[in-house]
Amino acid sequence: MILVTGGCGFIGSNFILDWLATRAEPVVNVDVLTYAANPATLASLKDDSRYAFERADICDRAAMDAVLAKHQPRAIVHFAAESHVDRSIHGPMDFVRTNVLGTATLLEATRAHWKALPDAEAKGFRFVHVSTDEVFGTLGANDPKFNELSQYQPNSPYSASKAGSDHLARAYFHTYGMPVMVTNCSNNYGPRQFPEKLIPLMIVNALAGKSLPIYGDGQQIRDWLYVGDHCSAIACVLEAGRPGELYLIGGDAEQANLDVVHTLCALLALHAPGKDYTKQITYVTDRPGHDRRYAIDFSKLHSELGWRPTESFATGLEKTVRWYLDNSAWVADVQSGEYKTWVEKNYGARV
Ligand code: NAD
Ligand code: DAU
Repeated sequence: MILVTGGCGFIGSNFILDWLATRAEPVVNVDVLTYAANPATLASLKDDSRYAFERADICDRAAMDAVLAKHQPRAIVHFAAESHVDRSIHGPMDFVRTNVLGTATLLEATRAHWKALPDAEAKGFRFVHVSTDEVFGTLGANDPKFNELSQYQPNSPYSASKAGSDHLARAYFHTYGMPVMVTNCSNNYGPRQFPEKLIPLMIVNALAGKSLPIYGDGQQIRDWLYVGDHCSAIACVLEAGRPGELYLIGGDAEQANLDVVHTLCALLALHAPGKDYTKQITYVTDRPGHDRRYAIDFSKLHSELGWRPTESFATGLEKTVRWYLDNSAWVADVQSGEYKTWVEKNYGARV
Protein backbone atom coordinates (compact mmCIF):
# COMPACT_ATOMS: atom_id res chain seq x y z
CA MET A 1 0.00 0.00 0.00
CA ILE A 2 0.95 3.64 -0.20
CA LEU A 3 0.77 6.13 2.67
CA VAL A 4 -0.56 9.65 2.02
CA THR A 5 -0.21 12.47 4.55
CA GLY A 6 -2.72 15.34 4.57
CA GLY A 7 -5.29 13.30 2.65
CA CYS A 8 -8.26 15.15 4.12
CA GLY A 9 -7.09 18.43 2.59
CA PHE A 10 -7.71 19.73 -0.91
CA ILE A 11 -5.05 18.07 -3.05
CA GLY A 12 -4.56 15.00 -0.85
CA SER A 13 -8.26 14.11 -0.97
CA ASN A 14 -8.36 14.51 -4.75
CA PHE A 15 -5.23 12.36 -4.99
CA ILE A 16 -6.73 9.54 -2.89
CA LEU A 17 -10.04 9.57 -4.78
CA ASP A 18 -8.26 9.52 -8.16
CA TRP A 19 -5.84 6.80 -6.99
CA LEU A 20 -8.55 4.45 -5.76
CA ALA A 21 -10.69 5.10 -8.82
CA THR A 22 -7.92 3.93 -11.15
CA ARG A 23 -5.83 1.46 -9.13
CA ALA A 24 -6.32 -1.57 -6.89
CA GLU A 25 -3.52 -0.69 -4.45
CA PRO A 26 -4.71 0.37 -0.96
CA VAL A 27 -4.04 3.77 0.64
CA VAL A 28 -3.62 4.79 4.26
CA ASN A 29 -4.34 8.45 4.93
CA VAL A 30 -2.53 10.12 7.86
CA ASP A 31 -4.08 13.45 8.80
CA VAL A 32 -4.37 15.31 12.10
CA LEU A 33 -7.51 17.14 10.85
CA THR A 34 -6.75 20.86 11.09
CA TYR A 35 -9.27 23.54 10.06
CA ALA A 36 -8.33 22.79 6.40
CA ALA A 37 -9.41 19.16 6.60
CA ASN A 38 -12.84 17.86 5.85
CA PRO A 39 -13.15 14.11 6.46
CA ALA A 40 -16.62 14.22 4.89
CA THR A 41 -14.83 14.75 1.58
CA LEU A 42 -13.80 11.08 1.68
CA ALA A 43 -17.11 9.74 3.01
CA SER A 44 -17.61 7.80 -0.23
CA LEU A 45 -14.67 5.56 0.80
CA LYS A 46 -16.05 4.49 4.17
CA ASP A 47 -16.93 0.96 2.98
CA ASP A 48 -13.88 0.60 0.74
CA SER A 49 -11.55 -2.00 2.26
CA ARG A 50 -8.62 -0.47 0.34
CA TYR A 51 -8.85 2.76 2.37
CA ALA A 52 -7.66 3.31 5.94
CA PHE A 53 -7.53 6.49 7.98
CA GLU A 54 -5.16 7.31 10.85
CA ARG A 55 -5.66 10.52 12.75
CA ALA A 56 -2.12 11.54 13.67
CA ASP A 57 0.22 14.52 13.72
CA ILE A 58 3.30 14.34 11.48
CA CYS A 59 5.22 16.14 14.25
CA ASP A 60 4.61 13.16 16.59
CA ARG A 61 7.50 10.72 16.06
CA ALA A 62 5.96 7.89 18.10
CA ALA A 63 2.71 8.17 16.15
CA MET A 64 4.57 8.14 12.81
CA ASP A 65 6.60 5.07 13.89
CA ALA A 66 3.41 3.28 14.90
CA VAL A 67 1.60 4.06 11.63
CA LEU A 68 4.55 2.92 9.53
CA ALA A 69 4.96 -0.29 11.55
CA LYS A 70 1.25 -1.06 11.26
CA HIS A 71 0.78 -0.40 7.53
CA GLN A 72 4.24 -1.12 6.07
CA PRO A 73 3.81 1.21 3.05
CA ARG A 74 5.95 0.77 -0.09
CA ALA A 75 5.77 4.53 -0.70
CA ILE A 76 4.82 7.82 0.95
CA VAL A 77 3.26 10.86 -0.70
CA HIS A 78 3.67 13.78 1.68
CA PHE A 79 1.01 16.50 1.30
CA ALA A 80 0.41 17.46 4.95
CA ALA A 81 1.25 21.11 5.53
CA GLU A 82 -0.04 24.48 6.55
CA SER A 83 -0.74 25.80 3.07
CA HIS A 84 -2.26 29.30 3.12
CA VAL A 85 0.08 32.28 2.60
CA ASP A 86 -2.18 34.82 4.37
CA ARG A 87 -2.38 32.62 7.46
CA SER A 88 1.43 32.35 7.47
CA ILE A 89 1.61 36.14 7.64
CA HIS A 90 -0.70 36.21 10.68
CA GLY A 91 0.95 33.23 12.40
CA PRO A 92 4.25 31.93 11.03
CA MET A 93 5.05 29.52 13.86
CA ASP A 94 2.35 26.98 12.92
CA PHE A 95 4.02 26.85 9.51
CA VAL A 96 7.49 26.31 10.94
CA ARG A 97 6.14 23.59 13.21
CA THR A 98 4.18 21.57 10.66
CA ASN A 99 6.11 22.23 7.47
CA VAL A 100 9.66 22.11 8.83
CA LEU A 101 9.50 20.12 12.06
CA GLY A 102 6.68 17.88 10.82
CA THR A 103 8.50 17.03 7.58
CA ALA A 104 11.73 16.42 9.50
CA THR A 105 9.92 14.10 11.92
CA LEU A 106 8.24 12.21 9.09
CA LEU A 107 11.55 11.88 7.24
CA GLU A 108 13.24 10.50 10.35
CA ALA A 109 10.47 7.97 10.99
CA THR A 110 10.56 7.01 7.31
CA ARG A 111 14.34 6.55 7.38
CA ALA A 112 14.02 4.06 10.24
CA HIS A 113 11.21 2.22 8.39
CA TRP A 114 13.12 2.21 5.09
CA LYS A 115 16.38 1.00 6.65
CA ALA A 116 14.59 -1.97 8.21
CA LEU A 117 13.17 -3.13 4.85
CA PRO A 118 14.70 -6.11 3.01
CA ASP A 119 17.08 -4.93 0.24
CA ALA A 120 14.71 -5.34 -2.72
CA GLU A 121 11.90 -3.49 -0.95
CA ALA A 122 14.23 -0.73 0.26
CA LYS A 123 15.39 -0.21 -3.33
CA GLY A 124 11.83 0.12 -4.62
CA PHE A 125 10.70 2.37 -1.76
CA ARG A 126 9.74 5.97 -2.68
CA PHE A 127 9.05 9.20 -0.75
CA VAL A 128 7.43 12.03 -2.75
CA HIS A 129 7.62 15.40 -1.02
CA VAL A 130 4.90 17.65 -2.44
CA SER A 131 6.02 21.27 -2.57
CA THR A 132 5.31 24.58 -4.22
CA ASP A 133 6.66 26.94 -6.88
CA GLU A 134 6.59 29.70 -4.25
CA VAL A 135 9.98 28.52 -2.92
CA PHE A 136 11.55 30.19 -6.00
CA GLY A 137 10.24 33.65 -5.07
CA THR A 138 8.78 36.03 -7.60
CA LEU A 139 9.23 36.70 -11.35
CA GLY A 140 9.21 39.96 -13.31
CA ALA A 141 6.84 40.26 -16.28
CA ASN A 142 9.52 39.27 -18.81
CA ASP A 143 11.57 36.81 -16.75
CA PRO A 144 11.85 33.23 -17.97
CA LYS A 145 9.64 30.71 -16.17
CA PHE A 146 10.89 28.82 -13.09
CA ASN A 147 12.67 25.55 -13.84
CA GLU A 148 14.52 22.91 -11.80
CA LEU A 149 17.65 25.10 -11.73
CA SER A 150 15.92 28.20 -10.38
CA GLN A 151 17.36 29.60 -7.17
CA TYR A 152 15.42 29.20 -3.91
CA GLN A 153 14.27 32.70 -2.85
CA PRO A 154 11.15 32.24 -0.69
CA ASN A 155 9.39 35.47 0.30
CA SER A 156 6.63 34.51 2.73
CA PRO A 157 6.76 32.53 5.97
CA TYR A 158 4.76 29.84 4.11
CA SER A 159 7.20 29.55 1.22
CA ALA A 160 10.22 29.81 3.56
CA SER A 161 8.88 26.92 5.64
CA LYS A 162 8.21 24.87 2.49
CA ALA A 163 11.74 25.68 1.26
CA GLY A 164 13.08 24.37 4.58
CA SER A 165 11.14 21.14 4.12
CA ASP A 166 12.41 20.79 0.52
CA HIS A 167 16.00 21.13 1.70
CA LEU A 168 15.47 18.45 4.33
CA ALA A 169 13.90 16.10 1.78
CA ARG A 170 16.82 16.64 -0.59
CA ALA A 171 19.33 16.07 2.23
CA TYR A 172 17.80 12.68 3.06
CA PHE A 173 18.58 11.54 -0.48
CA HIS A 174 22.10 12.97 -0.54
CA THR A 175 23.12 11.94 2.97
CA TYR A 176 21.28 8.67 3.52
CA GLY A 177 20.47 7.61 -0.03
CA MET A 178 16.76 7.50 0.85
CA PRO A 179 14.76 7.47 -2.42
CA VAL A 180 13.17 10.91 -2.07
CA MET A 181 11.76 13.08 -4.89
CA VAL A 182 10.50 16.66 -4.60
CA THR A 183 7.73 18.17 -6.72
CA ASN A 184 7.17 21.94 -6.95
CA CYS A 185 3.78 22.83 -8.33
CA SER A 186 1.97 26.03 -9.28
CA ASN A 187 -1.46 27.19 -8.04
CA ASN A 188 -4.08 24.45 -7.97
CA TYR A 189 -7.83 24.85 -8.27
CA GLY A 190 -10.73 22.44 -8.51
CA PRO A 191 -13.30 20.60 -6.39
CA ARG A 192 -12.93 20.45 -2.58
CA GLN A 193 -10.63 23.47 -2.14
CA PHE A 194 -11.12 25.31 1.13
CA PRO A 195 -12.76 28.69 0.43
CA GLU A 196 -9.87 30.74 1.80
CA LYS A 197 -7.95 30.45 -1.52
CA LEU A 198 -8.70 32.82 -4.40
CA ILE A 199 -10.91 30.74 -6.72
CA PRO A 200 -13.24 29.02 -4.21
CA LEU A 201 -13.41 32.21 -2.10
CA MET A 202 -14.58 34.22 -5.11
CA ILE A 203 -17.19 31.60 -6.11
CA VAL A 204 -18.56 31.28 -2.60
CA ASN A 205 -18.60 35.04 -1.96
CA ALA A 206 -20.18 35.81 -5.32
CA LEU A 207 -23.02 33.35 -4.70
CA ALA A 208 -23.53 34.73 -1.17
CA GLY A 209 -23.75 38.33 -2.46
CA LYS A 210 -20.55 39.26 -0.61
CA SER A 211 -17.65 41.39 -1.83
CA LEU A 212 -14.94 39.91 -4.06
CA PRO A 213 -11.74 41.24 -2.43
CA ILE A 214 -8.90 41.94 -4.89
CA TYR A 215 -5.53 42.46 -3.21
CA GLY A 216 -3.66 45.53 -4.54
CA ASP A 217 -4.09 46.13 -8.28
CA GLY A 218 -5.13 42.55 -9.08
CA GLN A 219 -2.39 42.24 -11.72
CA GLN A 220 -0.44 39.51 -9.90
CA ILE A 221 0.00 36.48 -12.12
CA ARG A 222 -0.37 32.83 -11.15
CA ASP A 223 0.07 29.71 -13.33
CA TRP A 224 -3.14 27.75 -12.68
CA LEU A 225 -3.31 23.95 -12.74
CA TYR A 226 -6.42 21.81 -12.35
CA VAL A 227 -6.01 19.62 -9.26
CA GLY A 228 -6.59 16.35 -11.16
CA ASP A 229 -3.61 17.19 -13.37
CA HIS A 230 -1.44 17.83 -10.31
CA CYS A 231 -2.48 14.43 -8.93
CA SER A 232 -1.62 12.66 -12.19
CA ALA A 233 1.79 14.38 -12.24
CA ILE A 234 2.52 13.20 -8.69
CA ALA A 235 1.48 9.65 -9.61
CA CYS A 236 3.90 9.80 -12.60
CA VAL A 237 6.75 10.96 -10.36
CA LEU A 238 5.94 8.28 -7.79
CA GLU A 239 5.98 5.51 -10.39
CA ALA A 240 8.77 6.60 -12.72
CA GLY A 241 10.60 9.60 -11.27
CA ARG A 242 14.30 9.39 -10.48
CA PRO A 243 15.21 9.46 -6.76
CA GLY A 244 17.00 12.63 -5.72
CA GLU A 245 15.36 14.69 -8.47
CA LEU A 246 13.20 17.79 -8.38
CA TYR A 247 10.22 17.99 -10.78
CA LEU A 248 8.36 21.23 -11.53
CA ILE A 249 4.64 20.96 -12.33
CA GLY A 250 2.56 23.71 -13.94
CA GLY A 251 -0.51 24.37 -16.04
CA ASP A 252 0.82 26.62 -18.80
CA ALA A 253 -2.03 28.92 -17.78
CA GLU A 254 -0.71 32.26 -16.58
CA GLN A 255 -3.55 34.57 -15.55
CA ALA A 256 -3.77 37.88 -13.70
CA ASN A 257 -5.96 37.63 -10.59
CA LEU A 258 -8.41 40.25 -11.85
CA ASP A 259 -8.90 38.31 -15.10
CA VAL A 260 -9.54 35.13 -13.12
CA VAL A 261 -12.23 36.88 -11.09
CA HIS A 262 -13.87 38.37 -14.21
CA THR A 263 -13.94 34.92 -15.84
CA LEU A 264 -15.51 33.43 -12.72
CA CYS A 265 -18.15 36.17 -12.67
CA ALA A 266 -18.98 35.41 -16.30
CA LEU A 267 -19.19 31.64 -15.67
CA LEU A 268 -21.44 32.12 -12.64
CA ALA A 269 -23.68 34.48 -14.61
CA LEU A 270 -24.41 31.62 -17.05
CA HIS A 271 -26.32 30.03 -14.15
CA ALA A 272 -28.03 33.29 -13.11
CA PRO A 273 -28.97 35.12 -16.30
CA GLY A 274 -28.96 38.90 -15.95
CA LYS A 275 -26.82 38.83 -12.80
CA ASP A 276 -23.64 40.98 -12.87
CA TYR A 277 -21.29 39.59 -10.22
CA THR A 278 -18.50 41.99 -11.24
CA LYS A 279 -20.34 44.69 -9.25
CA GLN A 280 -19.19 42.83 -6.12
CA ILE A 281 -15.47 43.33 -6.96
CA THR A 282 -13.75 45.40 -4.24
CA TYR A 283 -10.11 46.50 -4.14
CA VAL A 284 -8.51 45.95 -0.72
CA THR A 285 -5.09 46.48 0.85
CA ASP A 286 -2.41 44.31 -0.73
CA ARG A 287 -0.88 41.21 0.88
CA PRO A 288 2.46 42.17 2.54
CA GLY A 289 5.41 40.92 0.45
CA HIS A 290 3.01 39.83 -2.31
CA ASP A 291 4.79 37.86 -5.06
CA ARG A 292 4.05 39.38 -8.47
CA ARG A 293 4.30 36.46 -10.86
CA TYR A 294 4.77 32.68 -10.88
CA ALA A 295 5.24 30.65 -14.07
CA ILE A 296 6.44 27.08 -14.54
CA ASP A 297 8.51 25.40 -17.21
CA PHE A 298 7.48 21.73 -16.84
CA SER A 299 9.51 20.45 -19.81
CA LYS A 300 11.58 18.09 -17.61
CA LEU A 301 8.47 16.30 -16.38
CA HIS A 302 7.16 16.17 -19.94
CA SER A 303 10.34 14.91 -21.58
CA GLU A 304 11.28 12.39 -18.84
CA LEU A 305 7.87 11.08 -17.82
CA GLY A 306 5.56 12.15 -20.64
CA TRP A 307 3.26 14.18 -18.37
CA ARG A 308 1.28 17.19 -19.50
CA PRO A 309 -1.95 18.73 -18.18
CA THR A 310 -5.19 17.49 -19.71
CA GLU A 311 -7.43 20.38 -18.64
CA SER A 312 -7.18 23.90 -20.06
CA PHE A 313 -7.91 26.77 -17.68
CA ALA A 314 -11.31 27.21 -19.39
CA THR A 315 -12.41 23.56 -19.02
CA GLY A 316 -10.99 23.21 -15.50
CA LEU A 317 -12.68 26.38 -14.28
CA GLU A 318 -16.01 25.33 -15.75
CA LYS A 319 -15.81 21.99 -13.91
CA THR A 320 -14.84 23.77 -10.71
CA VAL A 321 -17.73 26.24 -10.83
CA ARG A 322 -20.12 23.34 -11.54
CA TRP A 323 -18.77 21.44 -8.51
CA TYR A 324 -19.26 24.38 -6.12
CA LEU A 325 -22.78 24.99 -7.48
CA ASP A 326 -23.64 21.32 -6.90
CA ASN A 327 -22.01 21.02 -3.47
CA SER A 328 -23.36 23.86 -1.35
CA ALA A 329 -23.68 21.44 1.61
CA TRP A 330 -19.91 20.78 1.50
CA VAL A 331 -19.26 24.53 1.49
CA ALA A 332 -21.65 25.14 4.40
CA ASP A 333 -19.92 22.34 6.30
CA VAL A 334 -16.45 23.93 6.09
CA GLN A 335 -17.70 27.45 6.87
CA SER A 336 -17.61 26.73 10.59
CA GLY A 337 -16.96 29.13 13.48
CA GLU A 338 -13.21 28.95 12.79
CA TYR A 339 -13.81 30.00 9.19
CA LYS A 340 -15.77 33.07 10.27
CA THR A 341 -13.00 34.04 12.70
CA TRP A 342 -10.47 33.76 9.87
CA VAL A 343 -12.53 35.88 7.47
CA GLU A 344 -12.85 38.58 10.13
CA LYS A 345 -9.11 38.46 10.92
CA ASN A 346 -7.88 38.53 7.29
CA TYR A 347 -10.40 40.82 5.62
CA GLY A 348 -11.64 42.87 8.58
CA ALA A 349 -8.41 44.84 8.77
CA ARG A 350 -8.09 45.43 5.01
CA VAL A 351 -9.33 48.77 3.75
P1 NAD B 1 -4.67 21.93 2.57
O1 NAD B 1 -4.38 23.05 3.51
O2 NAD B 1 -5.98 21.92 1.84
O3 NAD B 1 -4.59 20.54 3.34
C1 NAD B 1 -3.55 20.24 4.23
C2 NAD B 1 -3.92 18.94 4.97
O4 NAD B 1 -2.81 18.61 5.83
C3 NAD B 1 -5.15 19.07 5.86
O5 NAD B 1 -6.00 17.96 5.69
C4 NAD B 1 -4.57 19.11 7.27
O6 NAD B 1 -5.44 18.58 8.27
C5 NAD B 1 -3.32 18.27 7.11
N1 NAD B 1 -2.31 18.60 8.12
C6 NAD B 1 -1.88 19.86 8.45
N2 NAD B 1 -0.99 19.78 9.45
C7 NAD B 1 -0.83 18.46 9.75
C8 NAD B 1 -0.06 17.74 10.69
N3 NAD B 1 0.75 18.38 11.54
N4 NAD B 1 -0.14 16.40 10.70
C9 NAD B 1 -0.97 15.73 9.85
N5 NAD B 1 -1.76 16.36 8.95
C10 NAD B 1 -1.70 17.71 8.89
O7 NAD B 1 -3.45 21.88 1.56
P2 NAD B 1 -3.44 21.60 -0.01
O8 NAD B 1 -3.80 22.84 -0.72
O9 NAD B 1 -4.17 20.35 -0.28
O10 NAD B 1 -1.88 21.40 -0.23
C11 NAD B 1 -1.29 20.10 -0.04
C12 NAD B 1 0.20 20.20 -0.26
O11 NAD B 1 0.47 20.66 -1.58
C13 NAD B 1 0.91 21.18 0.68
O12 NAD B 1 2.14 20.61 1.06
C14 NAD B 1 1.13 22.42 -0.17
O13 NAD B 1 2.27 23.13 0.26
C15 NAD B 1 1.32 21.81 -1.53
N6 NAD B 1 0.92 22.67 -2.68
C16 NAD B 1 -0.32 23.24 -2.70
C17 NAD B 1 -0.71 23.99 -3.82
C18 NAD B 1 -2.07 24.66 -3.90
O14 NAD B 1 -2.31 25.42 -4.83
N7 NAD B 1 -2.99 24.38 -2.98
C19 NAD B 1 0.18 24.15 -4.88
C20 NAD B 1 1.44 23.56 -4.81
C21 NAD B 1 1.78 22.80 -3.72
O1 DAU C 1 1.80 28.70 -6.12
C1 DAU C 1 1.41 27.61 -5.35
C2 DAU C 1 0.72 28.10 -4.10
O2 DAU C 1 -0.54 28.60 -4.49
C3 DAU C 1 0.56 27.01 -3.04
O3 DAU C 1 1.82 26.59 -2.61
C4 DAU C 1 -0.24 27.54 -1.85
O4 DAU C 1 -0.48 26.49 -0.94
C5 DAU C 1 -1.57 28.07 -2.37
O5 DAU C 1 -2.29 28.64 -1.30
C6 DAU C 1 -1.35 29.11 -3.47
O6 DAU C 1 -0.77 30.32 -2.94
P1 DAU C 1 -1.25 31.78 -3.43
O7 DAU C 1 -0.93 32.75 -2.39
O8 DAU C 1 -0.81 32.06 -4.81
O9 DAU C 1 -2.85 31.49 -3.48
P2 DAU C 1 -4.13 32.31 -2.98
O10 DAU C 1 -5.33 31.58 -3.49
O11 DAU C 1 -4.06 32.63 -1.54
O12 DAU C 1 -3.99 33.67 -3.79
C7 DAU C 1 -3.91 33.66 -5.21
C8 DAU C 1 -3.72 35.10 -5.65
O13 DAU C 1 -4.94 35.83 -5.39
C9 DAU C 1 -2.62 35.83 -4.90
O14 DAU C 1 -1.98 36.72 -5.79
C10 DAU C 1 -3.37 36.62 -3.83
C11 DAU C 1 -4.69 36.93 -4.50
N1 DAU C 1 -5.87 37.04 -3.61
C12 DAU C 1 -6.11 36.00 -2.76
C13 DAU C 1 -7.20 36.07 -1.91
C14 DAU C 1 -7.47 34.93 -0.95
C15 DAU C 1 -6.72 38.12 -3.70
O15 DAU C 1 -6.51 39.06 -4.51
N2 DAU C 1 -7.80 38.17 -2.86
C16 DAU C 1 -8.07 37.19 -1.95
O16 DAU C 1 -9.06 37.33 -1.19
